[in-house]
Amino acid sequence: MIEIQDLHKSFGGLEVLKGISLKHAHGKVLVVIGPSGSGKTTLLRCFNLLEIPDRGTITVGETELDFTDSRKLPLGKVLELRRKTGMVFQSYNLFPHMTALGNVMEGQVTVQKRSREEARKLALELLEKVGLGDKADAYPHQLSGGQQQRVGIARAMATQPEVLLFDEPTSALDPELVGEVLKVIKQLAAEGMTMVIVTHEMKFAADVADTIILMDGGHILEQGTPEEVLKHPRSQRARQFLNRLNGEEE
Ligand SMILES: Nc1ncnc2c1ncn2[C@@H]1O[C@H](COP(=O)(O)OP(=O)(O)OP(=O)(O)O)[C@@H](O)[C@H]1O
Ligand SMILES: [Mg+2]
Repeated sequence: MIEIQDLHKSFGGLEVLKGISLKHAHGKVLVVIGPSGSGKTTLLRCFNLLEIPDRGTITVGETELDFTDSRKLPLGKVLELRRKTGMVFQSYNLFPHMTALGNVMEGQVTVQKRSREEARKLALELLEKVGLGDKADAYPHQLSGGQQQRVGIARAMATQPEVLLFDEPTSALDPELVGEVLKVIKQLAAEGMTMVIVTHEMKFAADVADTIILMDGGHILEQGTPEEVLKHPRSQRARQFLNRLNGEEE
């Protein structure tokens, strides 16, 4: 079980997460939607401790971290939680001077201290899995955006995290490249990978999510199945947000 309780995060005087609580079962897909600035990226970044929350707790399996007194955060647990999460970024964030293979090997060798041999073997398997078996030796600038993002997914999986986090994985892509990335994510969902996905792709969200949360102003406004949240939202604000999205799509 993954659990977040009463998570708060401010930047200077601006409170961006105002008490987020959620539970998420292993093997399931949680999709996070909501207006720009509602705190979606911040929530993901707190999840893998790219940002340290101000208070609240995060639990992934046996690893529990309480941020109430952040001066006393046990480093061992911080590293453990980081290892249990893998992030796929909106802008890929690949190392430009490394090949696709090198990018997928890097974390395994430096963080996990795997032998190069072992890292190479898993990296090749993962590149194959995302449909890039023939691009192992290509550098990022030789790859399309969709291909780079699929390398990003292989890299996030290479350290074998318990949870994969995606921050708008297709929003930097040309429309014709979106499908190939969503297909890989759907395949991972079908294989039972635990995922938290921030996206504006509503059809994809409806398709892949077990649970959707709709964030607004640092709170969770709606939480439920895709049917509940997308078709029968309870709050007026949620209906407005969804109508606006639908309006844009037409
Ligand atoms: N490092 C930071 N320093 C200061 N303010 C920040 C920082 N990161 C985010 N913010 C602010 O926090 C708020 C929430 O940002 P966040 O990126 O989490 O929103 P979001 O829901 O991901 O939006 P979008 O859909 O545009 O990506 C915004 O007002 C943003 O300006
Ligand atoms: Mg964002």
